[in-house]
Amino acid sequence: MTTIYIPRDSGALALGADKVAKAVEAELAARGIEAKIVRTGSRGLYWLEPMVEVKTATGRVAYGPVRASDVASLFDADFLVGDKHEKSLGKPEEIPFLARQTRLTFARCGIIDPVSLDDYRALGGLVGLEKAVSMAPLDIVATVTESGLRGRGGAGFPTGIKWKTVHDAPGERKYVVCNADEGDSGTFADRMIMEGDPFVLIEGMAIAGIATGATKGYIYIRSEYPHAVATMNAAIDVARGAGVLGPRVLGSAHAFDMEVRVGAGAYVCGEETSLLNSLEGKRGVVRAKPPLPALQGLFGKPTVVNNVISLASVPIILDKGAAHYKDFGMGRSRGTIPIQIAGNVKHGGLFEAAFGMTLGEIVDEIGEGTASGRPVKAVQVGGPLGAYFPRALFDTPFDYEAFAAKDGLIGHAGIVVFDDSADMLSQARFAMEFCAVESCGKCTPCRIGSTRGVETLDRIGAGIEPEANLALVSDLCNTMKFGSLCALGGFTPYPVMSAITHFPDDFAPRAHKEAAE
Ligand SMILES: Cc1cc2nc3c(=O)[nH]c(=O)nc-3n(C[C@H](O)[C@H](O)[C@H](O)COP(=O)(O)O)c2cc1C
Ligand code: SF4
Repeated sequence: MTTIYIPRDSGALALGADKVAKAVEAELAARGIEAKIVRTGSRGLYWLEPMVEVKTATGRVAYGPVRASDVASLFDADFLVGDKHEKSLGKPEEIPFLARQTRLTFARCGIIDPVSLDDYRALGGLVGLEKAVSMAPLDIVATVTESGLRGRGGAGFPTGIKWKTVHDAPGERKYVVCNADEGDSGTFADRMIMEGDPFVLIEGMAIAGIATGATKGYIYIRSEYPHAVATMNAAIDVARGAGVLGPRVLGSAHAFDMEVRVGAGAYVCGEETSLLNSLEGKRGVVRAKPPLPALQGLFGKPTVVNNVISLASVPIILDKGAAHYKDFGMGRSRGTIPIQIAGNVKHGGLFEAAFGMTLGEIVDEIGEGTASGRPVKAVQVGGPLGAYFPRALFDTPFDYEAFAAKDGLIGHAGIVVFDDSADMLSQARFAMEFCAVESCGKCTPCRIGSTRGVETLDRIGAGIEPEANLALVSDLCNTMKFGSLCALGGFTPYPVMSAITHFPDDFAPRAHKEAAE
């Protein structure tokens, strides 16, 4: 029977995927054709969503972006056997945006039915967990350490070392907490994998549990992700029913189970200690460290807190071995990184590649410049706490250390593109305002400093003592950077100072007087 694949990822749904599915169903019924419709995740080529695929004798053929109004003509053009139509894209894997990627973590995303364990197994799923259940926990930890995997949530801390601390910590109960708060601007990798391949996250969490002695996991998902919540819950039920989760994981002596918890929409609740407070039902306020969550985390017990992508990258490491994963990348940034290209960009989407591509390659060649067609002015990398990079720094390779050397950060690997109409003083002000709004209030440099930062930038904008006020902003940034308890206050200086350093013209009083006139 013919199979038609239509995504049900949030991005595709926002662009009308459900309407397309309904139109396809109606057309099949009207023409008396029998076909199976499989709802998938997204392949991550968002400018082509909804991207519809059909299984033909020579592989899958894609069409997009498909609107409900295109469906009748697709049938007329015999798209069910892969024939040409104005929306033809050819074989999806040959579309340059996909062909240039190295998909390790996202290998199945957009291809399979997300809640079909059979689909998951058919494309290599559960091989990593099957290996893990027969390994000594410390050997699993050693494999993850050897792979060079570093946390994809922002700080880039080596995952294996974190797991070793939890493994070694005494505790009759331990936890694995998956951070799916994904608050960074322009990021959607966590959402995409939870909606498109939830079993890979379940598998990664189960492996983390076995490696560290944790028997219970929680996935903390932001409330703005209802489709991810639904898909994860459905997949957890399937996994439990199939014995992947439960008192005997895959028939072994290891117990591991998990639940989804939904956050209430505070950026700071993505910070791991704030997240733990929120999970415990308390206000989302940052905890002082030490103690590390690895030693005293959820309910005071040893806890692994890892980002979705960190955990979802573990199954392939166990499956193919540490050396295979480590072979990709550069320097101390090993493996692949799912780069999320967003903002004012022509080809926005998810691009998984080995570390090492330059920022210029990503923006100009992969993203193909701005959607507006105007020149690229700046790119913010790493979310709202990341630096603005000008074109002059486009030769920076995507690598934790290389970005740090240029006073930037990779963070969760979101990049947001701005064209030459962006005003960097406004962006700097926005960074301070964001910090003021989202501050948990625990420490003074962040709580008070961010508000003073907004006021001082406003004075610069109004042309009041610009030089003295710029010096004041720089001084304030220094205090926030070194005096804040967590990275919200500590990293807000990155976007602010990078805007001032790389785009000084936007802070010159003349520019604003002219703009106001
Ligand atoms: C203000 C703030 C927000 C954060 N938001 C997130 C988030 O949304 N998702 C995430 O995985 N990590 C976030 N982090 C980083 C976490 O504190 C923590 O480092 C991470 O979850 C650890 O997982 P990893 O080692 O796998 O990266 C945030 C940190 C700060 C300071
Ligand atoms: S830096 Fe801001 S968010 Fe972080 S602990 Fe201090 S007040 Fe809270």
